[in-house]
Amino acid sequence: MCGIIGYAGKKQAAPLLLDGLKMLEYRGYDSSGIAVFDGGEIKMSKAKGRLENLDVLTDGGKKLGGVIGIGHTRWATHGEPSDINSHPHVSETGRFAVVHNGIIENYLDIREFLTAKGFTFKSQTDTEVVVQLLEYYHKGDIFETIRKTLNKLKGSYALGILAVFEPNKFFAVRKDSPLVIGLGKRENFVASDIPAVLKHTRSFILPDDKDIAVVDGNGVLLYNSNHELVERKRFEVDWDVESAKKNGYPHFMLKEIHEQPKAVEQTIAACIKGGEIAFENVDYSEEYVKKLDKLYIVACGSSYHAGMIGKYFIERNCRIPAEIDLASEFRYRRPILDENTLTVVISQSGETADTIAAMREAKEHSSRVLAIVNVVGSTIAREADDVIITRAGPEMAVATTKGYTTQVLTLQLLGLYLAGKLGRTGGEYAKYLEEIKCLPSAMQEVIDGKEQLQILASKYFGNDKAFFIGRGNDYALALEGALKLKEISYIHAESYAAGELKHGTISLIEQGSLVIACLTGDELYDKTLSNAEEVKTRGALVIALVKRGHTAIEGQAKHVVELPALSDEIMPCVAAVSLQLLAYYIAAARGCDIDKPRNLAKSVTVE
Ligand code: F6R
Repeated sequence: MCGIIGYAGKKQAAPLLLDGLKMLEYRGYDSSGIAVFDGGEIKMSKAKGRLENLDVLTDGGKKLGGVIGIGHTRWATHGEPSDINSHPHVSETGRFAVVHNGIIENYLDIREFLTAKGFTFKSQTDTEVVVQLLEYYHKGDIFETIRKTLNKLKGSYALGILAVFEPNKFFAVRKDSPLVIGLGKRENFVASDIPAVLKHTRSFILPDDKDIAVVDGNGVLLYNSNHELVERKRFEVDWDVESAKKNGYPHFMLKEIHEQPKAVEQTIAACIKGGEIAFENVDYSEEYVKKLDKLYIVACGSSYHAGMIGKYFIERNCRIPAEIDLASEFRYRRPILDENTLTVVISQSGETADTIAAMREAKEHSSRVLAIVNVVGSTIAREADDVIITRAGPEMAVATTKGYTTQVLTLQLLGLYLAGKLGRTGGEYAKYLEEIKCLPSAMQEVIDGKEQLQILASKYFGNDKAFFIGRGNDYALALEGALKLKEISYIHAESYAAGELKHGTISLIEQGSLVIACLTGDELYDKTLSNAEEVKTRGALVIALVKRGHTAIEGQAKHVVELPALSDEIMPCVAAVSLQLLAYYIAAARGCDIDKPRNLAKSVTVE
């Protein structure tokens, strides 16, 4: 889950590399480093800790000359965060330098192999074997050297490579790890993610697995594994530079919470045309949908929570059984799949290792795979049979907000799309479609009322635990609310289906326990109200989330957060905004590093 970057052009490389790494810091932030060609030699700087340490060490990159270089920001997998374990890694003779994102699964075998050949290793990383293999295989031809090295590697990688005898260029290659090539004017880039180089170009190429990219200031050449020169499709992104900056907000998370009405509006505009739901890259026949006997919805973390809401919506509106699974479980549990099952994988990044594996498992067993993804060109977007791109724009904070709500919305649109194919357009269909169009303004209303959540945060930020309860969609919301709170504030937050409380968990409730009760649906309101009463009786302080006008809760709750009233099914996106804001303000009051919570990284490319 590290971030890599490479630059070749006419400008001093190091400041540019540092600047790009700042946009990749969300991928890992325990150490960083850069290597450049300076006077025909490889010069390097590395620092443990946040990127600002490297920034200070190199005086904003000024201390390193040269116009070609590679950089890295690390999320440690093999070996603790330290100067030695940080990238770039250099080979024994110093002729090669490498930055790497991914995992070399057979690194111990390779280490043994090279040690027997007389190589010594300085770091505990898996990456060092890559750079030493380059050294070992180098007999003059750089392509043969890289190919032989790649053939020896098992696992996933995106690599940036400097070789001293090729001082006017660098090399890059990927397998199962993200890497984009950015094409600028007399300067070219590679990066783990688009925002890192968005300032310089909007024009990109995605190399195929094991293509070797040769990057210099004049252009980029791509060679496939047969060493044939190949062309890969160029694409332009419509994200603007501003969307990847904080723009005056103290944190990306707060900015991204505020961007949700726009993100949702963009998602609606892309998927509803002339009152009809139409997806750009999905066109199922009625016959296909009628034959579907099951849907699997598969994802991790918040995307999984979005999937739960999708399951309820699709089952209710399409009457097709839908199972929701954690990708890490699905991939190993031998799910029953065939051509009549549709597997829907959800991933903001499109690079989550478990979700990729689940997608491949489904494809292997003849299930069609539909991906709901935010990042164009990501592994999942490329490999799935059909793709719906959520229009959240770049999400930089580690904790997802606009990524999540656009996933929920997309799943609801998918439910209506499938219902349409099944001829199930009666009942609530038209109402849902109309209400979805009201979502941007309803979400904006919650944002405008943020002061109440700020006040609640200032009262309760000192608590060391919190419980979130709800039923149906509100249970899925409770799961997401608890995850948001725990990951950024480090408060022990747990979520329970409200009806389950009395089967054990209620023993944890004591005087002053904080309970956030989600009661945003009418259908199960009275049921959850009773559960709120049960915890209040045992001394809990209840914060209740309800639709505007639902005052019956006032007897049970210490605080009531009223939300714009839409149908139960359409409430989750609206309610999620208030839970995000509550988590954000609590974490801010506790002085947490909100955009980069400890131990986490944005894109989880390891199992
Ligand atoms: C929580 C969060 C994570 C992600 C999870 C899946 O705020 O962001 O739980 O939802 O790691 O990531 P994607 O959606 O990129 O597959």
